[in-house]
Amino acid sequence: MCGIVGYLGKKQAYPILIKGLKRLEYRGYDSSGVAIMNGSVKLFKKKGKVKELENFVGNSDISGTIGIGHTRWATHGEPEDNNAHPHYSGNKRLVMIHNGIIENYASIKSALIELGHTFESDTDTEVFVHLIEEIQEKENLSIEEAVRKALKQVVGAYAIVVIDRLEPNKLVAARKSSPLVVGIGEGEFFIASDATPIIDSTNKVVYLDDEQIAVLNLEEGLKIMDIQKTIVTPTVKELSLRLEEIEKGGYEHFMLKEIHDQPRTIKESMRGRMNEDEGWLKLGGFEDHKDKFLNADRIIFVACGTSWHAALIAEYTIEKLARIPVEVEYASEFRYRDPIITERDVVIAISQSGETADTLAALEIAREKGAFLFGIVNTVGSSISRFTDAGAYIHAGPEIGVASTKAFTGQVTLVTLLALSMAKANGNITEDYFKSSLVELASVPGKISEALKYEEYIEDLSKNINQVNNALYLGRGANFPVALEGALKLKEISYIHAEGYPAAEMKHGPIALIDENMPIIVIATNRSAKEKIISNIQEVKARKGIVIAIVPENEPEIAEIADYTIPIPVCDELVAPLISTIPLQLLSYYIAIQRGCNVDQPRNLAKSVTVE
Ligand code: AGP
Ligand code: GLU
Repeated sequence: MCGIVGYLGKKQAYPILIKGLKRLEYRGYDSSGVAIMNGSVKLFKKKGKVKELENFVGNSDISGTIGIGHTRWATHGEPEDNNAHPHYSGNKRLVMIHNGIIENYASIKSALIELGHTFESDTDTEVFVHLIEEIQEKENLSIEEAVRKALKQVVGAYAIVVIDRLEPNKLVAARKSSPLVVGIGEGEFFIASDATPIIDSTNKVVYLDDEQIAVLNLEEGLKIMDIQKTIVTPTVKELSLRLEEIEKGGYEHFMLKEIHDQPRTIKESMRGRMNEDEGWLKLGGFEDHKDKFLNADRIIFVACGTSWHAALIAEYTIEKLARIPVEVEYASEFRYRDPIITERDVVIAISQSGETADTLAALEIAREKGAFLFGIVNTVGSSISRFTDAGAYIHAGPEIGVASTKAFTGQVTLVTLLALSMAKANGNITEDYFKSSLVELASVPGKISEALKYEEYIEDLSKNINQVNNALYLGRGANFPVALEGALKLKEISYIHAEGYPAAEMKHGPIALIDENMPIIVIATNRSAKEKIISNIQEVKARKGIVIAIVPENEPEIAEIADYTIPIPVCDELVAPLISTIPLQLLSYYIAIQRGCNVDQPRNLAKSVTVE
């Protein structure tokens, strides 16, 4: 959560910081702030979005070529002006931005109060910068040395950037469990939570590792050391990110752009990995470690939110095709229940951002127990992709809308490729099934384009249900996780309470909720369970619920009993979740738009959850 950006160079820092913050706003938008060094520190911060900050700054003098900026997702203290970052030290010598949580902030705060410190905010961050100040003053240290010593005392997650008024030509940054990337331009440095604020100026970047401290200085260049003071040689990487990938490209919202982008992004997920005409599939990360997978006692998925839903689909697909036992865990729960894991387990993390703190923490436990770690990640160079032993990128490109769409279908594509790879390798499927599955997979992008053609119909239909308070999503088999994902999308962006349930489970409880105001979205694409789904729909109709059924195009029987049907192209059950997800995304999008919600930046949420 929260976006960090810093600039040091010859250009005016403020416009660079503001532009960067707008690109990072998906990470948090409770408040934002900037501090610019120009002899003295100019600090502006404001509750609300970056736009509010710009209005607040107005015509004030904010010139200067060194600065830091922050967009916040509040953890400690309400989203008010005083809690916005940057935060000053008590002596106003230091000014700092922070992403993460300092778990032992309360005890540090008490100790600092004893020493006479007073605080202006309720944040853990302000305590952190006062701690750095305390150490710096007491021992008369350079800023980087004071930061290094302070890091040894804090417990938790941090990405920080600090400016010292008495050493005005440098920025000092450090990270642990929250991302930071340094951009190296011509006579200028950038630092940010991700590469989006950097790409207009340079494609040369250095990703900081945990417990590393970076000193950015125009005269002396970039210096990195670890918390033990060992000097680290920076590894400069080249970014492949393109500017148009982070722009709206003519769409009104990123979410809509990303929904429409899926035929292309799914092709990208498969590109170079399979050929349906030649009948081959080669998933690099799997091929290189085949034995680990084939000899695994279990495959355990750890993930959160939408990525957890993709993992549930993986459970259906891998168990069905490869007959290897699969478990799916909420990463956040996994860590705290002393899980049984051995060296014979493969632990797979699924993550769009590759930075989710809960998922990283789960991987750390799995590593301690000796499991083989695999990542299915979208963001190239992210913490999870670097922490795992091997992995496969989703290649969906940057996802900016806070509600995940194209990353989800990319994840599902990847787990399907993985399931097929395993099943082919352990001989659990026939050659014919394997080849026909590749043909099915290759047809997905075209079928998604077909499914998108019902957009207008879905927009109209959503007008009839946009005022409801509750909604129920039902699905059987691999359509159950699709139902969960549909419900999550609706609640995230429209604030309508929605639940996903296995269709047959409805009669064990949720049926009590059904009345004439309740839309029930049934994902009815499973040919194998068609009769049962029809019975479930009848049960809903008998209680006057409004049935919206997602059905294959050739399905008149369900169309007759449902109130509304949204057709999708006929496809094999293996790939059906990829296609039936599309109308659910559009439905949530249009309902949210009609309710006047901010679909790209829904309230209280952040794209990248880097706190536990
Ligand atoms: C999806 O729409 C969510 N905003 C959220 O559930 C997300 O999937 C979750 O936080 C996991 O994120 P990750 O994939 O980046 O790890
Ligand atoms: N813990 C800090 C705060 O509440 C930083 C949160 C963040 O990562 O945005 O301000």
